[in-house]
Amino acid sequence: MAHVKIAVIYYSAYGTNYQMAVEAEKAAREAGAEVRLRRVNELAPKEAIESQAGWKNHVEATKHIAVATLDDLDWADGFIFSVPTRFGNLAAQMKQFLDTAGPLWGQGKLANKTVTAMSSAANPHGGQEATILSLYTTMFHWGAIVVAPGYTDPSIYAAGGNPYGTSATQGKEVSAEVLAAVRYQAQRLVATTEKMVREVPHIA
Ligand SMILES: Cc1cc2nc3c(=O)[nH]c(=O)nc-3n(C[C@H](O)[C@H](O)[C@H](O)COP(=O)(O)O)c2cc1C
Repeated sequence: MAHVKIAVIYYSAYGTNYQMAVEAEKAAREAGAEVRLRRVNELAPKEAIESQAGWKNHVEATKHIAVATLDDLDWADGFIFSVPTRFGNLAAQMKQFLDTAGPLWGQGKLANKTVTAMSSAANPHGGQEATILSLYTTMFHWGAIVVAPGYTDPSIYAAGGNPYGTSATQGKEVSAEVLAAVRYQAQRLVATTEKMVREVPHIA
């Protein structure tokens, strides 16, 4: 297998997308990739975070995870993003990080990289699909290759049937069905990236 580098980049306030990102990290590594797990920088004011125990505890518990940088985008052959829905769109923290990628984009360094995305919301149909599609729009501008799960595996149906990317409903624990779909989505991304690395040179 060709050497495949995957960056799993997430934002999470309460832990849902963190659990999904960790599962994706494990699955991508098991599929043979070298993986970096990265959280995007928190932008919310300290007072807002500290006013909610769940948010504050999660920030404390994940302090050790490296913050995503442009080097991670440059380094990776493929990306797995996980991001909560905010009024049907990306959490601003993730959007802000993506918006720092102009210089890499300008050099053509994001073209031909693979990407897949996941989301969560408080409700089962609270906007996950719109959030993932919105993130993919940015990827089209990067010239990245979107590797959506489609309906290519039974795990996708069992997790709620979102063909754009695995979707979770916020809760204490992410369900076993959703985690299985996350694993499948990550493995599919690694397998596709491997082909890209072997056959299509990055424009750089
Ligand atoms: C400003 C804001 C807007 C939100 N909008 C929605 C929404 O439109 N629909 C929904 O179901 N949940 C919404 N939520 C809930 C989040 O999607 C939910 O907290 C998140 O998916 C949990 O992910 P996390 O545990 O990784 O932080 C919103 C939360 C916030 C703070």
